[in-house]
Amino acid sequence: MMSAWGVMHSMSADRSGLAGRTITADTRRRVWSFARPYRRWIVGFVATTVASTFLGLLPPLVIREIFDSAIAEGDGGYLNQLFVVLLATAAGEALLSLLGRRLSSGIGEGLIFDLRRQLFDHVQRMPVAFFTRTQTGTLVSRLNNDVIGAQGAFTGTLGTVVSNVITLAGTLIAMLVLEWRLTLLAVAILPLFVLPARRVGRGLQAITREGMNLNASMNNTMTERFNVAGALLVKLFGRHDDEAADFGDRARRVRDIGIRSAMYSRVFLIALTLVGAVGTAIVYWLGGHLAIDGALSAGTLVALGLYTVRIYVPLTSLSNARVDVMSAFVSFERVFEVLDTPNPITDRPGARDLRQPAGRVEFRGVRFAYPSAESTPESLEVAPASATDGAEAVEVLSGVDLQVEAGQMVAVVGPSGSGKTTLVSLVPRLYDVTEGAVLLDGADARDLTQASLRAAIGTVTQDPHLFHDTVASNLRYARPGAADTLLIEACRAARIHDVIAALPDGYHTVVGERGYRLSGGEKQRLAIARMLLKDPAVVILDEATSHLDTENEALVQEALTEALRGRTSLVVAHRLSTIVDADVIVVLDGGVITESGTHDELRLAGGLYAELYDGLLRAETAQRTEP
Ligand SMILES: Nc1ncnc2c1ncn2[C@@H]1O[C@H](COP(=O)(O)OP(=O)(O)OP(=O)(O)O)[C@@H](O)[C@H]1O
Ligand SMILES: [Mg+2]
Repeated sequence: MMSAWGVMHSMSADRSGLAGRTITADTRRRVWSFARPYRRWIVGFVATTVASTFLGLLPPLVIREIFDSAIAEGDGGYLNQLFVVLLATAAGEALLSLLGRRLSSGIGEGLIFDLRRQLFDHVQRMPVAFFTRTQTGTLVSRLNNDVIGAQGAFTGTLGTVVSNVITLAGTLIAMLVLEWRLTLLAVAILPLFVLPARRVGRGLQAITREGMNLNASMNNTMTERFNVAGALLVKLFGRHDDEAADFGDRARRVRDIGIRSAMYSRVFLIALTLVGAVGTAIVYWLGGHLAIDGALSAGTLVALGLYTVRIYVPLTSLSNARVDVMSAFVSFERVFEVLDTPNPITDRPGARDLRQPAGRVEFRGVRFAYPSAESTPESLEVAPASATDGAEAVEVLSGVDLQVEAGQMVAVVGPSGSGKTTLVSLVPRLYDVTEGAVLLDGADARDLTQASLRAAIGTVTQDPHLFHDTVASNLRYARPGAADTLLIEACRAARIHDVIAALPDGYHTVVGERGYRLSGGEKQRLAIARMLLKDPAVVILDEATSHLDTENEALVQEALTEALRGRTSLVVAHRLSTIVDADVIVVLDGGVITESGTHDELRLAGGLYAELYDGLLRAETAQRTEP
């Protein structure tokens, strides 16, 4: 009954959307290209299976000899020999089974390994737009479930189809040679089982799929509520009871489907056991009558009985083989779908390195609209194509011209949502311009290699991210292998060293979402230190919109002065002290630069800047006098 589980499992595999599917020759070729490196292993596996099947045919024949020759003729010496053969066969089967498993797991796990690495590498190189549109959970499931499903194409089909065909053929031939009428009879009762089994299998499959969905929804609830931000939200709104009730509902559904699934599985197993027992009984009954009449020896009858058990499992499994193979191929297609998602931001052929950048940045007639859905596979989208998707994408920047000389500091100001973050994200090519060009040292950013472009630019985002790792590791992300003294130097310059030194484990304190929580200002200074370690020619700084307290503000200001010295900098500024320091201030409004000049020039002009400035001044004085 060992492989009954295999049969059951394969029958319950998720086969959504299989109806009417065909496998294209192209997919087949690609699947084969993944299997190619393992072709020696595959040959070895098939050979092992064949050998193991033939070895498995032996014991019933030996037992027949024991009855018909050794016992019938009272030959003790022959019996001893047969005993040794039985032991040797068992040992040989054990060894072959071990070898076969080693080969099949080597193929299967190797395939998972190859697919996962390719997927991970492809996905991590995708542009930001891909990640803003993709559901992380769905993507991770592609890397987990579908990769495993695709592996089933090999271990599953190879393991079940190939070995079942061989086992079945070998056993049937042996049975037919022994007594063909009984064999046909044993096969004839099979539809009695196969037909209901297929029905139960389909039911089980639907239940399994539903169970997986219910489980996923329960898990999603947990991950959303148990991350720091979610847990905080639940607490602040005091919704614990509602959350518990909602979770209880989901968990209850998982429980109920678990019971149904267990019952279906058991019915399936019982039916398989029953048909084996019935088949064997029939063989012994009719065969017994033949033996009484002297048409069949007792040994042959026992051998037939033993063989009969071995044909039902492979036959049932083969009756589902087509679906198994199809579902494995569908998994492959889903993996290919991700691998085939084109990456719109790649190095152009012949792209050159940006060597020893001076740090001149220029925006020339830049127009930009956020990319629409076309670059993401539909099945990975957060929401299916919405009404706005077909429509013309809204232009965020509509004709920006700006020249930043090497070593200059330009402050970008403007109302919230005016496109400041968007503008600066075009420099390191997080997005490509829709029209116009961004130039570095006079070269179009798209003509430079991404590696050299990003090496020249250091960015501190509005909400800097830290990995769940030590402070030191987070800093070394900018410069792997940097000596401790370098880290400390950078942190001193960024005015964050004292804070880190006072942490429980100093530079070895784990930070990130789940580690030690740094304040907003501290996090931004740590991000500045990380940027300093990179030592870029161009600095892009997107200041946090939230107001810092006065002390933090002064520290950030000092950190900034240090960070920006001798570098070209593009600062999205929200704080007066930063703005006033800038060489040039540009005001972004409605996707275009409406004003530009020094602080004094713009104040006198009395435009949007003067208005913004007065607002900021009022806000900051109010904040200062409040406590
Ligand atoms: N990934 C995105 N996809 C589509 N639209 C976006 C995306 N990110 C931003 N936008 C839109 O682009 C516009 C400009 O956003 P941006 O983040 O550049 O504003 P901002 O000037 O930095 O604002 P703030 O001062 O509040 O940070 C907004 O209308 C915003 O909704
Ligand atoms: Mg912004």
